[in-house]
Amino acid sequence: MDFATLLKTTNPAILLAIASAGMLAASLVLGLGITVGGRALSSWLRATAPSDKEVDAFDKRQLQDFIKTQENEKPFAMTPMNEPILISLGCFFVAFTAASLFITPPAVKEPEDPNKPKPVVLTIVKDPAKATKIVAELPKGNAANGKSLYEEKGCVGCHTLDGKAGVGPTYQGLYTRAANRKPEYGAKEYIYESVVNPNVFIVDGFQQGIMPNNYNTQFKPQEIADMLAWMEATFK
Ligand code: HEC
Repeated sequence: MDFATLLKTTNPAILLAIASAGMLAASLVLGLGITVGGRALSSWLRATAPSDKEVDAFDKRQLQDFIKTQENEKPFAMTPMNEPILISLGCFFVAFTAASLFITPPAVKEPEDPNKPKPVVLTIVKDPAKATKIVAELPKGNAANGKSLYEEKGCVGCHTLDGKAGVGPTYQGLYTRAANRKPEYGAKEYIYESVVNPNVFIVDGFQQGIMPNNYNTQFKPQEIADMLAWMEATFK
């Protein structure tokens, strides 16, 4: 597994914890390194500084007084004790900021509102055995409501009831024809599929891609059951 996949598959909280621990250790080492290096540099600078005689040209006394007042006024001074700690913390802060650009902590999930209706998506049938099961598990349909849905859901725009040709096949005789459209499907299974996933079977003489293919999100199980009941009662 490469690093990118590992990053994606591991829980971000764990990643963040591991990264933080690693960075803390690295920061301590780096901080100590900087401290030791800094001290070495300052003693070298001190050793190579001009001699007292050379600075005599300055008013030495005044200079020392100035340094004294400066030191007394300092609200905070680096000491051998706090210096490595402060530098380490600084390194950790920088490393943490850099790492947080790559690791996103887990999103805080909003508690789900139990009253919020979940979107119903009707199952798209692929396997005839499952189709029979899905249709058998639909609630009992109401034919009168099925007729209203034919208008409400816009089927009326493409399907006639009286045998006249429309954009889509007429519903006249539909239920009887439906039983023979696909050998492995009964009438209800076939009609269910035709509504939920219209492009898998195209009726002869009609075109694919005309009937909307999002009815699986527009019908509740009760509504498709009503539609089936109406068709069974009316178009034999
Ligand atoms: C924009 C036009 C259009 C709309 C709206 C439409 N259909 Fe269709 N329908 C078609 C066409 C075109 C076909 C034939 C092509 C195919 O088999 O997919 C078809 C085929 C069908 C079939 C198969 C008919 C057969 O003889 O095998 C059924 C069942 C069906 N539609 C039901 C519906 C229902 C229910 C609605 C409303 C929820 C609906 N259609 C809305 C255009 C439409």
